[in-house]
Amino acid sequence: MARVHNWQIGREMSYWYPESRPTRQFAAIFDTNKCIACQTCTLACKTTWTSGRGQEYMLWNNVETKPYGFYPLGWDVTLLEKLGAQSWSGSRYDGRTLFEAAGPGERVLGWRPDDLDYAHPNVGEDDCTRNVDRGAHFSFEHEAWFFYLARICNHCTYPGCLAACPRGSIYKRPEDGIVLVDQGRCRGYRECVKACPYKKVFYNPMTGTSEKCIACFPKIEQGIAPQCFENCIGKIRMAGFLSTPDKANAGNPIDYLVHERKVALPLFPQFGLEPNVYYIPPVHVPLPYLRMLFGPGADAAVATYRQAKDDPDLTGLLKLFGSSERLLPRWRRQGEFVLGLAENGTELARVPLREPLRVIQAYDPVQRVTRTNCP
Ligand code: SF4
Ligand code: SF4
Ligand code: F3S
Repeated sequence: MARVHNWQIGREMSYWYPESRPTRQFAAIFDTNKCIACQTCTLACKTTWTSGRGQEYMLWNNVETKPYGFYPLGWDVTLLEKLGAQSWSGSRYDGRTLFEAAGPGERVLGWRPDDLDYAHPNVGEDDCTRNVDRGAHFSFEHEAWFFYLARICNHCTYPGCLAACPRGSIYKRPEDGIVLVDQGRCRGYRECVKACPYKKVFYNPMTGTSEKCIACFPKIEQGIAPQCFENCIGKIRMAGFLSTPDKANAGNPIDYLVHERKVALPLFPQFGLEPNVYYIPPVHVPLPYLRMLFGPGADAAVATYRQAKDDPDLTGLLKLFGSSERLLPRWRRQGEFVLGLAENGTELARVPLREPLRVIQAYDPVQRVTRTNCP
């Protein structure tokens, strides 16, 4: 085992291979406050990549309702229980990562779901934490809650899947950090399925190999956002590249939200994989639950997001989400507009800070009709 630095847990840790960061790292931010669970992302991916035989149950992108939704069944709670106590001192994780907690003969602490665990992709959808009396949803203080968690492969800096494969069939591309399964090398050992804590590697019984989200790399290579980003109805997603904290650049939208404003957080940082999908936490959910999911930065992230209305830079950048099919590696606010830019400064997208308001009179003299919203 090598010693590597994991900035998300604020310390060094053991990993199967030495630290080898890509030239640039593909990364994404999902704003959970805007997700409506329409599953357009799920279907955009499914129809693009996993509509073949043996791929029926594969959802490289899925959206589950927390706290009772899971795909596969119990993916997170099963592992959290196996890992045991997890504690932080400030931003330093004191517990064991999945690599450090691995048993004898095991590279990563993990578990392999049964076939039936994949049988109900939308179990728990819209289930609330408690019953709400009729009419009470107008007044209750979020004692009852749920939220939608969209999930893809995290293209981790320290992938569990890659560490676990005995054939070395999984690799991380040096040019963009995207993690792929070499279909020619894979022999279907499924150690990767067991080791990925997010359960984002899937076994194909027809080909006898495992498959996973490829971050739509043919699109990334052309500077275009992946399918599940481009088709997102709620405009909750932004794809790009993330720097390490010491090289953070506030002009890069991903760096700005992750490193500068610290409003977007990794999912289960305590697992130790340094995942590269970041979540803006749902502001109506109890903080202890958010700390378990997103680590000790959850309180500050929620407080920052709640102030966004008085913060034109943050509001503006959030409006840039989903504004273009192009990747937007740079951004800046220009008065009442927010611009998405190419690396060389070319303008690729422009959105107003405030949506223009147009008041339409009920009577239309041209058509000589009265339009009303009343039924
Ligand atoms: Fe591998 Fe899972 Fe990380 Fe994706 S999320 S890189 S499949 S360990
Ligand atoms: Fe599917 Fe592409 Fe989204 Fe990955 S990035 S889940 S391959 S649509
Ligand atoms: Fe390796 Fe997973 Fe294939 S463990 S051999 S990549 S099924």
